[in-house]
Amino acid sequence: MSLNQSPNGREAERVVGNNVQRAKISALGTYTPPRLLTNADLEKMVETTDEWIIERTGIRERHIVEKGVGTSDLAFEAAKRALAQRGLSGRDVEVIIVATVTPDMFFPSTACLLQHKLGASGAWGFDLSAACSGFLYAMATGAQFITSGRHKKVLVVGADVMSSIIDYTDRTTCIIFGDGAGAILIEAAEPGEDGLIDFNYEIDGSGGDDLYMPAGGSRMPSSVETVEKKLHFVHQNGPQVFKFAVRKMYEVCDTLLKRNGLTGDDIDIFIPHQANIRIIEATRERLGMPPEKVLINIDRYGNTTAGTIPLATADAITQGRLKKGSLVLYASAGAGYTVGAALVRWSF
Ligand code: UT7
Repeated sequence: MSLNQSPNGREAERVVGNNVQRAKISALGTYTPPRLLTNADLEKMVETTDEWIIERTGIRERHIVEKGVGTSDLAFEAAKRALAQRGLSGRDVEVIIVATVTPDMFFPSTACLLQHKLGASGAWGFDLSAACSGFLYAMATGAQFITSGRHKKVLVVGADVMSSIIDYTDRTTCIIFGDGAGAILIEAAEPGEDGLIDFNYEIDGSGGDDLYMPAGGSRMPSSVETVEKKLHFVHQNGPQVFKFAVRKMYEVCDTLLKRNGLTGDDIDIFIPHQANIRIIEATRERLGMPPEKVLINIDRYGNTTAGTIPLATADAITQGRLKKGSLVLYASAGAGYTVGAALVRWSF
């Protein structure tokens, strides 16, 4: 038996006797707050135009929370919907992993807050910080508890209230981000069922200063000065992040496809992190996939960080483009840097 490393080099399964134990996604729920922030709204707040935002990012509108709503509230709504889809309640959940860079508080973790809201009294859990790759990293982490045989039901949530850390006087960042959440349930795949097939993740900490929130942590605790200098907001070197994302999202996908003996032709749907339509299009083109194979919904949500991939997955299902048996290629790149690609055979 090998953990994390099967004879074919794939990293998302466990070989038990003659059987490969895989993990599958058995349910999906999403939530976005009702309030919209449109490009027309932003035109009144900063020096920008609807045309510039659409052309440079592909975004038309984003969902934004009302004051006082936290990430755990969005996570709760998404998690409830995922559990309801499987006819389950919080009591059935064994592990909760919340990917977020905007926790309600530093501590307790958003996973603890969510556990209480869901009444998931039998679950343990934790938060995972990997920015825009957070959902994919949490998905693979959650899958390990299934393939190891340790747990049967893992709830993985990607949720962010990006509006809580955005400077709405900075036109280079405020046009990009939105709020949203998605939750999946991970369970054991049936014998012979693929589920989560493989993943290929990398981090590169040398790019840490390209996208970060400078203050509020242990190195630069909150003070009047940090607030005055706007150091509690997202600071981004946009063009640098753009170049990294275009290069690395392709590379991790290419490596993942090749080691599984696949090409872009074999993929039914490519669901990338939604950060910029030009990053998505460049990655798709380099992978040799036609436009109809990529899911783009950045126009309606902007970049919701850990929320983009489940929100895009839900749209793929609604549009009839993701069905039981579809082969999905996921990809992400974000602050850290973090980057990832995952292959999933859709299970419902
Ligand atoms: O999830 C991962 C996190 N983030 C990303 O993946 C973001 C990656 N980066 C990007 O998406 C893009 O770099 C941005 C959308 C952030 C910026 O687009 P860009 O095409 O790279 O623009 P730029 O930063 O090179 O700026 C070009 C011009 C500048 O004016 P000058 O210096 O040429 O006169 C900016 O000041 O566009 C100006 N500009 C704007 N103009 C109108 C920047 N933001 C705006 C704006 N409206 N909102």
